[in-house]
Amino acid sequence: MLIQVITGTTREGRLSERVAGWVVRYLTEHTDLEIEQVDLRDHPLPFFDAPPPAKAPRDYFTAEAARLGSTLDRADGYIVVTGEYNHGYPAVLKNAMDWTFVEWTRKPIAYVGWGNVGGARAIEQLRQVAVEFEMAPLRHAVHILPDTMIAARQSTEPGDTSAFVPLEPKLKLLVDDLQWWAAALRTARRQNDN
Ligand SMILES: Cc1cc2nc3c(=O)[nH]c(=O)nc-3n(C[C@H](O)[C@H](O)[C@H](O)COP(=O)(O)O)c2cc1C
Repeated sequence: MLIQVITGTTREGRLSERVAGWVVRYLTEHTDLEIEQVDLRDHPLPFFDAPPPAKAPRDYFTAEAARLGSTLDRADGYIVVTGEYNHGYPAVLKNAMDWTFVEWTRKPIAYVGWGNVGGARAIEQLRQVAVEFEMAPLRHAVHILPDTMIAARQSTEPGDTSAFVPLEPKLKLLVDDLQWWAAALRTARRQNDN
């Protein structure tokens, strides 16, 4: 089963790189899932300006949209790591979603967020977006609060994810739940395809 970890911020100096590194490491060490990191920096897209992808599934407008679409298509579930910008989710993440549609459908999605309230506002809004994509947004999330963000940033070693270790019980709940939903929905998708 393939789970993708989507890095939802792209700005210079972003924290998301460290958070994604921690999530990927945890999944690799504690599960037998296949893991793929999807960094939106590797998928530069213009602001969405194409016909609605929901109405023309996989009829990609550009090669870059096709590359993102075929990447997302592979996954059985997603963990989005996201900061919070002005009480919302990052625009780059929504823009990437708007370029695609059916690739996400009937799959689970879970969130790891950070910020003054642990990214809770961004995550709650992203759950609403997921419903429109006919996804299963999960209840369990990981919320990284400012003390942990400060501790994580203090390390000069970019791969140092030790500040997040106290949050691993929360991440375990999320991952266990995601595995259940990913397996159940993969079976259901395959039955429907027959
Ligand atoms: C444009 C912008 C807006 C922000 N707005 C919020 C906010 O509304 N709530 C919050 O908790 N943090 C906010 N922050 C602080 C972010 O939580 C912090 O910069 C975090 O590291 C963002 O994730 P990133 O480093 O991966 O970009 C904002 C940061 C930026 C750059």
